[in-house]
Amino acid sequence: MANKGANTKKILAHNANAFSLSVIVAPFFNLMIEPNMTRRILVTSALPYANGSIHLGHLVEYIQTDIWVRFQKSRGHDCLYVCADDAHGTAIMLKAEQNGIPPEQQIANVKAEHEADFASFHIAFDNYHSTHADENRELSRFIYLKNRDAGHIATRPIRQLFDPEKQLFLADRFIKGDCPKCGEKDQYGDSCEKCGATYAATELKNPYSTISGATPIEKESEHYFFKLPDFEAMLKEWTRSGRLQPEVANKLGEWFDSGLADWDISRDAPYFGFEIPDAPNKYFYVWLDAPIGYMASFKNLCEKRGLNFDDYWALDADSKTEVYHFIGKDIVYFHALFWPAMLDGAGFRKPTGIFAHGFLTVNGQKMSKSRGTFIKARSYLDNLNPEYLRYYFASKLSASVEDIDLNLEDFMFKVNSDLVGKVVNIASRCAGFINKQFDGFLSATCAEPELLAEFVNAGTTIAEHYDSRDFGKAVREIMALADKANQYIDEKKPWALAKDPANKEQVQAVCSVGLNLFRQLMTYLSPILPVTAAASQQFLNIDSLAWQAREQLLLRHKINAFTPLMTRVEKDKVQAMVEASKEDLAATAPTTVAKAAPKTEKASTIEAIAPTISIDDFAKVDLRIAKIVNAEHIPEAAKLLKLTLDLGNEQRTVFAGIKSAYKPEDLIGKLTVMVANLAPRQMKFGVSEGMVLAAGAGGKEIFLLSPDSGATAGMKVK
Ligand code: MSP
Ligand code: ZN
Repeated sequence: MANKGANTKKILAHNANAFSLSVIVAPFFNLMIEPNMTRRILVTSALPYANGSIHLGHLVEYIQTDIWVRFQKSRGHDCLYVCADDAHGTAIMLKAEQNGIPPEQQIANVKAEHEADFASFHIAFDNYHSTHADENRELSRFIYLKNRDAGHIATRPIRQLFDPEKQLFLADRFIKGDCPKCGEKDQYGDSCEKCGATYAATELKNPYSTISGATPIEKESEHYFFKLPDFEAMLKEWTRSGRLQPEVANKLGEWFDSGLADWDISRDAPYFGFEIPDAPNKYFYVWLDAPIGYMASFKNLCEKRGLNFDDYWALDADSKTEVYHFIGKDIVYFHALFWPAMLDGAGFRKPTGIFAHGFLTVNGQKMSKSRGTFIKARSYLDNLNPEYLRYYFASKLSASVEDIDLNLEDFMFKVNSDLVGKVVNIASRCAGFINKQFDGFLSATCAEPELLAEFVNAGTTIAEHYDSRDFGKAVREIMALADKANQYIDEKKPWALAKDPANKEQVQAVCSVGLNLFRQLMTYLSPILPVTAAASQQFLNIDSLAWQAREQLLLRHKINAFTPLMTRVEKDKVQAMVEASKEDLAATAPTTVAKAAPKTEKASTIEAIAPTISIDDFAKVDLRIAKIVNAEHIPEAAKLLKLTLDLGNEQRTVFAGIKSAYKPEDLIGKLTVMVANLAPRQMKFGVSEGMVLAAGAGGKEIFLLSPDSGATAGMKVK
């Protein structure tokens, strides 16, 4: 690593304003972030339950958070990332029992597994703790007592179903029976999957405990409640002060409208958790101590690193320190209402912001064990490079709570074409010449200062996208730069130049520009691809890929030997992962326990958007308004109708697979849209001369497109 630094040079005096960072105004009201100011930031991801494996759905969140944290660190900010296992609750207690081990052993095993999975996906926590820890016990006690002494805790008896065999009060998800409305058997204690009715568990006919099979009895018990309505005014103000995404703030508005209620925070023994002070045999409900686990993990980090806890959590810390929670949309209620209220009642600062993300679908559908799309972190890692998934998720992530889809075809396409085909390709196209012909040395001057300046300056916009969690936009900017770099090399053709020794210097100049551009790209990609970035750094022989360091061009600088940085995604590996996920199902018992979170919308089943095409690609498709002048059954065809379409100056025969949804007589006279320049296709019943457009899943769900009134046959659709 000799001679570095001395041989690099600050570029672009001619573009003095190039690097003045625009003032980034934090989206959160009390923080105006000055350029060059070092921000102090504490970041968390939701604490995964200690009763199951990490799967690709979870990873949306941990990857999103990790990219954001790595970005902030790359910018030189003081950013800490903490997390922990969420180790308490009935589900974990039962899981341990099922495995024949004490709950402490159960949570230790799962924690080790979780940590290994996260490390393999390069999730770089500053600390990973457990909610079943002394720090959490103390903080939970402290926060509870502060709230209690301020009058925010009430007690009253409630009647609940009880398993007389297990001697256990039963949450709704541990009770099944016949639906009180339609009589359907084996319905859960809160709603019927068949008729959609919602009811109280006590209304089920023939109820039974899913744990022991016993018939539950109703039993009374004293419960402890957190008086959420005490905090209504504070919460209304807080949730509207720009700390939440607009969609989330709206959702909360609905909750306020329907009224806040007391929150039941106690569970009776036996329960795996912390006992409530001065309340023998009563335990904190898991969701009481879970968010306190964020603080506890941080406290544990403070002890390890000698940090000052109060700098982050004291009431006045929120003007100096930002605290952000990354969570899924299903747990907003806990984070945006209960959590700030508990903190407020105990005299702590509240979070600066809460960042909710949507749910993961795979191939447009909810993850499914039978389809092999409920993919565990480990099944992925057994087959594929974790950076592929980090990149794919990044390319799809935004600041919204919309669901994101992992389309496996698109995944392969994007990784191969962007990362392998564009980015890594730049380095491999240039490195050989530099190493073989110039002993690894880059040129002493930069042949394309303006092109380099453009790449360096693009960092301002890219940084803004990262900072506002618009990773998809950041990725698009970066890939547009990668296209430019490849274009430059394509134009200069170093491989052609190299044939004539007279061009030697030019070959070095072009490849040096190429490698400097590559370095800029890897700087921008490093939060997403930490391992490829580290390998690139080694190959480029540079000290840092930190954001500001990119302003130093590599001139008369010696690089190291090039080793391939990333290989293509192989289709059979993706298939193997899906197959393994199907096997997983057979191998594991169906013990997933539904979580105690408020109900959210079902994951969407919207198909993923296809890879981007250019306007020229689109223009190749000639779409026309067509009038259906005749439609008839083909008796031998199961799905097809034979349509005669009028295009204004000619008629076409088209066989359309819409028989299941349309009667011929209903179609005659209608206008629709057809692809008029599709190659004719010989079918069993004749030649089809085009295609009509329809949406829907098939069967009865086929919806033919029709134009607005006024359109006439033959008009071009564009
Ligand atoms: N233990 C609670 C969180 C307590 S935080 C104080 C919990 N655990 S979880 O294991 O069920 O989920 C952990 C995180 O992963 C949550 O933010 C959840 O929204 C997220 N996801 C779980 N499944 C997911 C998908 N299929 N898609 C995207 N995120 C998902 O909730
Ligand atoms: Zn029913």
